[in-house]
Amino acid sequence: MTTWITVCDTCKCDDWAAREVDETDGAMLAERVEAAARGTNLRVRRTSCLMGCDHSCNVAVQAAGKLCYTLGRFQPTEEAANGIVEWAGYHAASETGQVPYRTWPVAVKGHFVTRHPPLPGEDE
Ligand code: FES
Repeated sequence: MTTWITVCDTCKCDDWAAREVDETDGAMLAERVEAAARGTNLRVRRTSCLMGCDHSCNVAVQAAGKLCYTLGRFQPTEEAANGIVEWAGYHAASETGQVPYRTWPVAVKGHFVTRHPPLPGEDE
């Protein structure tokens, strides 16, 4: 099953207004995640609001039949994007979506917000 990274492109970090930039932090992070995921087996898409605005920037990592996660409190940096993509790669390689903590990139530690168990099959 393909692992998707969904990046909220409307997220704004607390200091966004003070920085007086046009581009949202979420859009900046999305660009960096898209660049980092190029050439991998991961898919990236954007959405407007994952309802975690208070802890921007937010992303979701999902695949059918696997544990799915939301992560937040990211700055739109290359380091964050690379960590998200590296972790999503481990998610893709995992049968269940669970990724051993010892393999987590530093950039994602402390950024997990929710974990969702996979939906049951139609006949369960
Ligand atoms: S704007 Fe990104 S979660 Fe709401």
